[in-house]
Amino acid sequence: MGTIEVVLGDITAERVDAIVTAANESLLGGGGVDGAIHRAAGPRLAAAGAELAPCEPGKAVVTPAFDLTQVKHVIHTVGPVWEGGEHGEDLVLTSCYVESLLLAEELAAESIAFPAIATGIYGFPTERAARVAAMAVRSLPIIDRIRLVAFDRETAEALNRALAEPI
Ligand code: APR
Repeated sequence: MGTIEVVLGDITAERVDAIVTAANESLLGGGGVDGAIHRAAGPRLAAAGAELAPCEPGKAVVTPAFDLTQVKHVIHTVGPVWEGGEHGEDLVLTSCYVESLLLAEELAAESIAFPAIATGIYGFPTERAARVAAMAVRSLPIIDRIRLVAFDRETAEALNRALAEPI
């Protein structure tokens, strides 16, 4: 049984086998965490993404990490755009975590770092997304070290609350 921990910080500073980016379907990069990871990994990340695009919401694909030298893989997953919660958003978000974990397992990754997928530009409510994330990673403890990287305190607290809830 591995560990699941919440950390507050910049995911591009993580020293793990795989980091997950909250991408869009083009996989060409964007703002938010995707922009930060693309800046850190360099232009080859978008070129590699373009080869694999489009990536539909809930799916995950992997590329090398290029200039992000302390990481082996970047897993690109596309979260759901929040539309009020009645359009299967929870299922798509769950799939982002599950598909990323399964891909990481295929890559024999021993550690993975997730951002709070979909809670920024895509507007998914933080508390609800934290519960989805906690449920997904606890249901699939197949990677030894799972790190949920929050960029702000509110997100970190929501993730810790969600992980403290009984399964
Ligand atoms: N490290 C960790 N987390 C970060 C970082 C960072 N450097 N930068 C932003 N975040 C956090 C945000 O604060 C938010 O909690 O990542 C979470 C996800 O927010 P977004 O990056 O906006 O991702 P998302 O809501 O899934 O929207 C995806 O935004 O960047 C574009 O190309 C992306 O079109 C796609 C959309």
